[in-house]
Amino acid sequence: MTRIVIQNLGKSIEVNGFSKTILKAVQEEGIDWMHACGGKGRCTTCKAIVLEGEANLEPLTAAELRYQKQGLLRAGERLACQAVVTGDVTVRVPEESKLPHLLYMD
Ligand code: FES
Repeated sequence: MTRIVIQNLGKSIEVNGFSKTILKAVQEEGIDWMHACGGKGRCTTCKAIVLEGEANLEPLTAAELRYQKQGLLRAGERLACQAVVTGDVTVRVPEESKLPHLLYMD
């Protein structure tokens, strides 16, 4: 069983099935997550900070590598719509990607 812990939302979800991105997995659990381009890798609003389990995500996609090169994605950050979960991870929502209607713990 694979889990995603969203630290500053105080939520822990189970990932069912294979080849799911963080975004897809959290949406399936009814958790809202910013994704301005609709999960197409064309913005960085779905950014997640990976606190634990970075090795349990598939490698950076071409879109993420492009944003990293442009300095828009720092080390330890992933795009939730691109990062496919292969094992347990703990993430947090960065300040700039917080949704106004959700209550964050920090
Ligand atoms: S939602 Fe736009 S890059 Fe992920």
